[in-house]
Amino acid sequence: MTRGANGQVQDHDDQEYPFTERDFAMIAEIAHRRYGLYLQASKKPLVYSRLTKRLRALALPNFETYCQLLSEPQGQQEHAHLLSALTTNVTHFFREMHHFTALREKILPSLIEKARSGSPVRIWSSACSAGQEAFSIAAVIRKEARDFASLDIKILATDVDPQMIQKAREATYDHEQTDAIPAEYKTTMIEQNGDSFKIKPDIMKMVTFGELNLVDPWPMRRKFDIIFCRNAAIYFDKETQSRLWQRFSDSINISGHLMIGHSERLTGPAQAHFRNVGITTYQRLTDTAGGEITEKRMGI
Ligand SMILES: C[S@@+](CC[C@H](N)C(=O)[O-])C[C@H]1O[C@@H](n2cnc3c(N)ncnc32)[C@H](O)[C@@H]1O
Repeated sequence: MTRGANGQVQDHDDQEYPFTERDFAMIAEIAHRRYGLYLQASKKPLVYSRLTKRLRALALPNFETYCQLLSEPQGQQEHAHLLSALTTNVTHFFREMHHFTALREKILPSLIEKARSGSPVRIWSSACSAGQEAFSIAAVIRKEARDFASLDIKILATDVDPQMIQKAREATYDHEQTDAIPAEYKTTMIEQNGDSFKIKPDIMKMVTFGELNLVDPWPMRRKFDIIFCRNAAIYFDKETQSRLWQRFSDSINISGHLMIGHSERLTGPAQAHFRNVGITTYQRLTDTAGGEITEKRMGI
């Protein structure tokens, strides 16, 4: 360890840029305030290596100037890069298959009945990355309800990362990505498009994509029948997670379901409103007062 020109402790002499405790604390504060991310001290080397690429790309002399940029109006676009650098967009079709099995066997039959009786069914893929999760849900619905096109069943798919939403809207995936689609869904789900594969139009029609930061206010008015929030809350601190589960609880219809990631657990007051009905699968029990103030619909 050494001390930099500003007297702050630095970890290594051989680093390309000085990275002080203060720099790390500033990055961690911005990431927490803006995205609810929790960067514990052990993440310092990772943060350094991921963000060094951004300093290089922006030709900035040090982390202090980078933090300054993040707090200025002209640096607002950089927040998306900061988030991408600190989280991962890793996903795949039918990831955590047990949720799709539960969807097919236990959850969809009554929701399809609900839709056939004329009521809308709404599903939210709330950290959808490049769209594979939402398209997998749509493919299961398409297979289970032959009359799906005449039913009012819609999927809202959102992510905070604009680049991921752009990819999701393109709905084009390469061979390695589509290999994860089980054979029984392949022909109804994708079609060859040059060297890659495109999601078929009737599957795409079921899904509406939008940018949404889970720690900001949500603009949706309707409650959902199912919310998928998998492998995103893991980046949040405990308080932000608990608040998020509570907000989901306020946004799910009675008897609706919440699916979370394999290493995530429901915590805080929301636990009282859900019962565990399968692997990281929860069902909404009772009503709660309040909920989010909502201003407009996100296209569904
Ligand atoms: C590891 S991917 C998970 C994708 C998919 N849900 C799955 O389980 O395969 C995590 C996603 O969470 C998104 N994310 C991280 N923080 C977020 C936030 N504050 N609001 C919305 N999405 C966020 C990231 O952009 C990323 O696409």
